[in-house]
Amino acid sequence: MINDIESVLIPEEKIRARIKEMAKQIENDYKGKTITVICILRGASVFFCDLVREINLDVRFEFMSVSSYGAGTTSSGEVRIVKDINTPLNGKDVLIVEDIIDSGSTLSFLKKILEQRGPASIKVCTLLDKPSRRKVDFKGDYVGFEIEDKFVVGCGLDYAEKYRNLRDVCILKPEVYTK
Ligand code: PRP
Repeated sequence: MINDIESVLIPEEKIRARIKEMAKQIENDYKGKTITVICILRGASVFFCDLVREINLDVRFEFMSVSSYGAGTTSSGEVRIVKDINTPLNGKDVLIVEDIIDSGSTLSFLKKILEQRGPASIKVCTLLDKPSRRKVDFKGDYVGFEIEDKFVVGCGLDYAEKYRNLRDVCILKPEVYTK
């Protein structure tokens, strides 16, 4: 796996430190509240586990799966719910946790769908953001790192389901995804 990596973009220690900062900010913003944190499978799983353990508040876990990419590297713009949550969201403070905002299609679709369920509030937390790739106007409320348009894997992010377990956010060698 390591032979497929061009370089480390964000090392594990930097990710850990940033997650702690984000968690503190979330704690301050949601003081005294219960947060329903929705992890968007599968990419967000690693970030989600690290983030929730740093948040010293009453946090409830939910998991959803939406698909936008298939096995390729570019978004089709098509989004569908593969796995929904069973819990009603009315009156709840909802925090959607994602690994990356790319075109913005996934989160813009998801946020609209979840807003219709009557939450008290709904915000988005993402580890990575690639603003230069936006096709749909969308802004995350908590953003770990803004990155340039490089193909990144690790810390939950995959290429064809591989590399999710790498500890750092890494740049994949172009020959890996162009062959
Ligand atoms: C990735 C990522 C986001 C979405 C972002 O998911 O986790 O959900 O793409 O792209 P967008 O802003 O262009 O919509 P993917 O569909 O690859 O599934 P995964 O989380 O299982 O890797």
